[in-house]
Amino acid sequence: MSIDWDVLATEARTMAARAYAPYSDVRVGACGVTDGGRLVRGCNVENASYGVTLCAECGLVSDLAAGGGGRLVAIAVVAGDGAPLAPCGRCRQILFEHGGSALRLFDGTPEGRTLDTLLPDAFGPDDVETRRGGLT
Ligand code: THU
Repeated sequence: MSIDWDVLATEARTMAARAYAPYSDVRVGACGVTDGGRLVRGCNVENASYGVTLCAECGLVSDLAAGGGGRLVAIAVVAGDGAPLAPCGRCRQILFEHGGSALRLFDGTPEGRTLDTLLPDAFGPDDVETRRGGLT
C-alpha cells in the first residue's frame, strides 16, 4: 500500500490542535491508516492527576478498535509545532500490538521509519503464546 504521508501528517496536526494539555502544554496529535485504508486518530488528554494522562497514540488505538479494528500500516505522530514526535516507550508497545514491527512512522522522509527501529526485540502476542508454562 502506498502511504500518503501528507494526509496523515495533516490530520495529525489537526488532532494536535484539539489536544487537552493544560498541564504540560505539550500538544500531540496522531493519525494512522489501517490495512483497510481507514484513517484513525487521537490526541493527548491530560488530567489533574498527572499519571493518568492519555497519550495521543492511546486515543488512536481506541479509535481503531471502536471503528471496527484492523492492522495499523502507517502512523504520523506530531507535536503542536507540526514536527514528528517519537512515541513514548509505553506507546511503542501499544503500537506494536496493533501494527507489528513493520509499522511505518512519519519522520519527514518519503520512506518513514519502521517501529522495529524504535522498539527492537519487542515482546508481543506471539511471545505470550510460545512462552506459557515452563515449570518442569
Ligand atoms: N505524549 C503523547 O501524547 N504521546 C507520546 O508518545 C509522548 C507524550 C503526551 C502526554 C502528555 O500529555 C504530554 O505529551 C507531555 O508528556
